[in-house]
Amino acid sequence: MASSKKKTAFFCQECGYESAKWTGQCPVCRAWNTMVEEPVKMTGTGGMAGRTARIGQDRMPVSLSAVKEGGEVRFPTGFGELDRVLGGGIVKGSLILVGGDPGIGKSTLLLQATANIAAAGHRVLYISGEESLHQIKLRADRVGSFGDNARFLCETELDTITQILPREKPDLVIIDSIQTMYNSGVQSAPGSVSQVRETTAVLLRLAKETGITFFIVGHVTKEGTVAGPRVLEHMVDTVLYFEGDRYASYRVLRGVKNRFGSTNEIGIFEMGSAGLQEVLNPSEYMLSGRPVGASGSIVTCSMEGTRPLLTEVQALVFQTNYGYPKRQATGTDYNRVNLLMAVLEKRLGIPMSDYDAYINLAGGVRQTEPALDLGIVMAILSSFRNTPLPDDMVAFGEVGLSGEVRSVTMAEARVQEARKLGFTTCLLPAGSLARLKAPESMRLIGISGLQQVLDYI
Ligand code: TYD
Ligand code: MG
Repeated sequence: MASSKKKTAFFCQECGYESAKWTGQCPVCRAWNTMVEEPVKMTGTGGMAGRTARIGQDRMPVSLSAVKEGGEVRFPTGFGELDRVLGGGIVKGSLILVGGDPGIGKSTLLLQATANIAAAGHRVLYISGEESLHQIKLRADRVGSFGDNARFLCETELDTITQILPREKPDLVIIDSIQTMYNSGVQSAPGSVSQVRETTAVLLRLAKETGITFFIVGHVTKEGTVAGPRVLEHMVDTVLYFEGDRYASYRVLRGVKNRFGSTNEIGIFEMGSAGLQEVLNPSEYMLSGRPVGASGSIVTCSMEGTRPLLTEVQALVFQTNYGYPKRQATGTDYNRVNLLMAVLEKRLGIPMSDYDAYINLAGGVRQTEPALDLGIVMAILSSFRNTPLPDDMVAFGEVGLSGEVRSVTMAEARVQEARKLGFTTCLLPAGSLARLKAPESMRLIGISGLQQVLDYI
């Protein structure tokens, strides 16, 4: 390295940006007060000489026809929801990062996956740097039974782990969490950017050379006091985020990067007294507790990957008491709501700027698909007019700036989902309706512009 004389550098704890000087704001990710001085010199054999892992053994370039066809080998996790987010199971030799706020249920999810995968005959090694074996056992007793294929280790030294792996020969290793792991080749403290990055580089090389699959748990904190998993996103094969309200029982697993599948998929779980349960019919779950005959409420349908998800949109609109109207959006994009209200004002002449508006996507799964627009607009109009909409009605469609309602993808899947849950009327873009075979027992109404919606209400 050219900087071999330099002993320390400043690393942004958010994004990993390295700088010779301290700065108050990271010039790359714009976070404040995240630059921390850390040693950069590497010693010993535990560390990696470079920043990148060496992938594979063959060092000579070859043509693709000379590559043996092994195919990607996948094995299921025993959780259909997790498998879907992974793109159809765990790929052998991959490195998967599971990020999320502390206490959201990452350890629980991976512990349950450990039980399932071990029961299917694979060898799993669960390495915890956060909990003692006793604590793990207490939790394990609640969530299931573990056979001899599941082995547990409390360890934070990377060197020890790399020595144990060839003896244990596991198919899958779970590292809980990357922030507690310590690579003696790096001088900074566990959890710092350089530790987290170098440790992951070692694990990445191990995964590619031995075919062992690694799940890495990474905590994200808003303060950025521990190196966020952002630093790791470009190194690992797959990044999953486990999110949800810690005080509510649902949890959403979302893929944000996947070298082996789509990233649009989500998996929905419910945290109970015996760990996480899959939510097999999320639409039904999202709609439970919906008010009957209330104004400002309508059900809409967005696509989460390949799966349609019905959600209730609620709007509360009332005359503002201040000169400046207050707006709030929960579970969806605030700016999109503002835009839709501007369209309503300009195209339909409704004086939205005199009204406060609170929009809520009930159920707690954050959704931002444009197909929600029509539902949001109808909820706003329904609340504004104080007119309840029919309970058995679903509406979806994208609203354009001229007040036109534009077609959306996969209209048929959305209509089918609504029909499955007993809805009988569906408002959808006229453009989508033209290309659709109407199912029985469902009235489809094509909408081409917002004026039509207003007339309907
Ligand atoms: P945990 O998996 O420890 O979170 P993380 O590893 O992401 O920090 O989850 C802990 C939370 O889950 C804790 O608040 C308790 C709750 N929990 C249950 O409600 N039921 C259960 O069966 C288990 C094991 C945990
Ligand atoms: Mg944990």
